[in-house]
Amino acid sequence: MTIEVRPLTTHIGARMTGIDVRKPLTPAEIDAIDAAMDKHAVLVLPGQDITDEQQLAFTKNFGALEEGANSGARDTELRLVPAFADVSNLDKDGKKLARGNKRRMAALGNRLWHSDASFRAVPAKYSILSGRIVTNNGGNTEFADMRAAYDALDAATKAEVEDLVCEHSLIYSRGQLGFSEFLPDERVSMKPVLQRLVRTHPSSGHKSLFLAAHIGTIVGWPRPEAMAFIRDLMEHATQPQFVYAHRWTQNDLVIWDNRDTMHRVRRFDDLTIVRDMRRTTTRCEGPTVAQQAA
Ligand SMILES: [Fe+2]
Repeated sequence: MTIEVRPLTTHIGARMTGIDVRKPLTPAEIDAIDAAMDKHAVLVLPGQDITDEQQLAFTKNFGALEEGANSGARDTELRLVPAFADVSNLDKDGKKLARGNKRRMAALGNRLWHSDASFRAVPAKYSILSGRIVTNNGGNTEFADMRAAYDALDAATKAEVEDLVCEHSLIYSRGQLGFSEFLPDERVSMKPVLQRLVRTHPSSGHKSLFLAAHIGTIVGWPRPEAMAFIRDLMEHATQPQFVYAHRWTQNDLVIWDNRDTMHRVRRFDDLTIVRDMRRTTTRCEGPTVAQQAA
């Protein structure tokens, strides 16, 4: 099969055909995906009717797996093996989550712009999301290009953000939606981590803004001033010219690079419609900045 890559917007996203994710990849195919990711940051591979095992095998070509991607969920509640982030609205028996369900509440945080696992000292590299049962009645996933957003800052703002470090935690992002029912052991595991606000992509060399709803302050700044500034940057970075909105088709496999994008899911009627999306995730090479001693 010939690999073809077709851009979806002027900045971000491309559609890639000619790869069969069900089969082991050749080194040339892995290189082609990495090269396309470095250029486009989001890839859509349509028509990938895969099993969980095939998705895991594919993911392992692109780095170490992120462990415990189901942030906070108990193992006994899991529908999928722990290497998966269950982005569905289903419980372990395949029933739709009830309105007041705690996992559903936590998952509502995915409607806020974020970068996966930025609340971990070593954040996520690629996220690989398989659309097993999709909906077109809402539920689009939107991606914002943090390279283009950085490039479009004026020189004074670029100089101001260059060396800033932010605190990221799930407590902050969920708190934005008024969710604060954390158990004591969850609070410990959600201790804020530090991330640079400007990061440089290790293979493309492109600088980008490392923003996420998980940000709760900027180190050394008064918190309200930090959050007002982060809100301004978020507004700037998510303008329509930086965004690709993905409308899902059954068996799309969508890969995004969390090192230079943000994403969010749009609202849909999750109490009525089944949406079964399964995410695997790889880790970055290391932290973006040294962490504080515990
Ligand atoms: Fe996400």
